Amino acid sequence: MSDTLRIGMIGCGEIAYKATGQSVTDCPNATIVAAMDTVEDVAQSFTDTFGGDPTTDAAELMARDDVDAVLISAPHFLHAPLTIQAAEAGKHVLVEKPIACTTEQANDMIRACADAGVLLSVLLPSRYSGSTVRAKELIESGALGKILALKFHVAANKPDSYWTGGYTQRVQTDWRKSKENSGGGILIMNLVHEIDAVRYATGLEATRVYAEYDTYLTDTEVEDFITVSIRYDNGAIGDMMASSCARGGEAGGTRIYGSEGQMAFGGRLRVFTENDVDGLEKDAWTEIEAPRVDGRVKLIERFADAVFNGTAPEVPGEEGRNTLDVIYAAYRSGETHTPVSVPTYG
Ligand SMILES: NC(=O)c1ccc[n+]([C@@H]2O[C@H](COP(=O)([O-])OP(=O)(O)OC[C@H]3O[C@@H](n4cnc5c(N)ncnc54)[C@H](O)[C@@H]3O)[C@@H](O)[C@H]2O)c1
Repeated sequence: MSDTLRIGMIGCGEIAYKATGQSVTDCPNATIVAAMDTVEDVAQSFTDTFGGDPTTDAAELMARDDVDAVLISAPHFLHAPLTIQAAEAGKHVLVEKPIACTTEQANDMIRACADAGVLLSVLLPSRYSGSTVRAKELIESGALGKILALKFHVAANKPDSYWTGGYTQRVQTDWRKSKENSGGGILIMNLVHEIDAVRYATGLEATRVYAEYDTYLTDTEVEDFITVSIRYDNGAIGDMMASSCARGGEAGGTRIYGSEGQMAFGGRLRVFTENDVDGLEKDAWTEIEAPRVDGRVKLIERFADAVFNGTAPEVPGEEGRNTLDVIYAAYRSGETHTPVSVPTYG
């Protein structure tokens, strides 16, 4: 294998065109050699911009000897079948978030890649942002003491056109509106990033969730408002509130409350601590200047390193599944009006 990971894009819609194609181009050890979309023009315009050969046939792309890995950027319900098809074709897989719509699909993907001896990683770039990395360091340095409570808040105000064409209208489609095809609304689509970043920064896992959700203002099957109460494995409690139709938008952010401090994410990272911690003022709030990092580029670069070194990727399928587990349990809770346990793994 060369020292440049040769990627075949699968799905060349909004995010592939708006961000991922450029991220691969900016990555020092990866390149696009082919790109597939079921819509011919969409594949063509992608390769016109980022290079590689266009196709509408996934099997043809996966059969190419010069494709080392596929990057799947398709609607959520296709993540599992496309991953399994790629694994069976002997290709490493980097799949967009969320890993899949259900835990069962995620486990099938993990198993298929393990059986085929290929790597599976999930594009969850928030882990690499400067503020997440710094937050993790500060939590590990004891800035917060014992974590007692966590709060997530995302209030988006998506236009009606989002549901049939995303933010850019690059592709006309209705998968985002369908529970079966998307897995859900704002929780699985957006809050997945915050949940994953905080799992990574704190090391805490949710053990039980209770959710209420509804669809108030949007012509979709998926929720446009959701609240979730959570118990964590260290005994901490927390909640999430998210909306895709919060008029006026604006509000948002994540808070972590500890026995000796507090942390605020969302915009600037800010930390209050009662302890002596390098880089923080004692008994006061400190605003942290975190380095700007393009998490997508970093994640693709590290994935390519893992392929070359034969090591596990830093964000393996299991991590994507564990983040999805919280979301999936919350949706089941909202359906059954009962608390639902989040799976734990030995
Ligand atoms: N839009 C964003 O801002 C954004 C941001 C981050 C991540 N994501 C994730 O990226 C993925 C794609 O989202 P999107 O917003 O780009 O969606 P999109 O609908 O704009 O693009 C999906 C593309 O997949 C193509 N497609 C459909 N069936 C296919 C098949 N069988 N094989 C290959 N391609 C097929 C569609 O033609 C379309 O071009 C999702 O997992 C989403 O959560 C999106």
